[in-house]
Amino acid sequence: MADLEGNADAKKFHPDVPAVRFTHAIRGAANLDWGMQNRLARILDPETGRTVMLAFDHGYFQGPTSGLERVDLGIAPLAGQADALMCTRGALRTSIPPATRAGLVLRASGGPSVLKELSDEYTAMAMADAVRINADAVAVQVFVGGEHESRSIRNLTTLIDEGYAAGIPVLGVTAVGKELVRDARYLGLATRIIAELGAQLVKTYYCEDGFEDVVAGCPVPVIMAGGKKLPELEALTMASRAVRAGAAGVDMGRNIFQSADPGAMMTAVRAVVHDDLDPVDAYELFREATSASVLA
Ligand code: R5P
Repeated sequence: MADLEGNADAKKFHPDVPAVRFTHAIRGAANLDWGMQNRLARILDPETGRTVMLAFDHGYFQGPTSGLERVDLGIAPLAGQADALMCTRGALRTSIPPATRAGLVLRASGGPSVLKELSDEYTAMAMADAVRINADAVAVQVFVGGEHESRSIRNLTTLIDEGYAAGIPVLGVTAVGKELVRDARYLGLATRIIAELGAQLVKTYYCEDGFEDVVAGCPVPVIMAGGKKLPELEALTMASRAVRAGAAGVDMGRNIFQSADPGAMMTAVRAVVHDDLDPVDAYELFREATSASVLA
């Protein structure tokens, strides 16, 4: 029954208080729809504007990568420490508990294996399936300067159009082929193209010189890709330099799941990304957490 009495008593309109204005902590997101901003906020921690994304999508082109032999045993227990997971729908559905609270970024391009030309990709997932899975974003490789550059751009823009229809952001990944140099000029070119074409997030590798220009020139959040396994202190130093240069966090795989202690490495990476801890102190944290887990 309608509550006419309660309605008559509604007087707390605060006419002297202006409507609350939302602050848009996410770069370039102010004019996106509410659903898309909400999904971005599930990937980028609203407190820091940064993310620790755990990447384990490597199997989509290179099969059972070292450290990913058993995603259910090696990766699923780390999900609670990640702001977001980046993986294939196959790994997610088979090996990650549906009750996970982490944001989900699903690999949506694929095609060639590591045995063939890697830029020869197509879109590899329908947006309807990303919606079904409750993804917070989809990820697509973009091969600027690569053999199949234009098709990879087409893959990106197709997913962006479908993503707008569904309210799902797209993470464009700068794919650096063997022949391409990872310098600020190239990374600046690739990241800017991806953002201009409409991606709401960009992932790229770190470069020592000029990374702050790469980030400044990209109008959406730039997330640093990890790359091959480094000694833990070096990986933490790279992550620290990237976020201090303006990156909105990291998307790391091998430097976490190939670490001697992946859980301890997650703790240390989180400290660098979210607390801006000095990498040497974060490495100490890693060592302490490692000793604790050995003693447990
Ligand atoms: C490339 O885009 C791959 O799919 C990985 O997601 C990415 O390379 C991050 O993993 P890693 O830190 O091992 O390079």
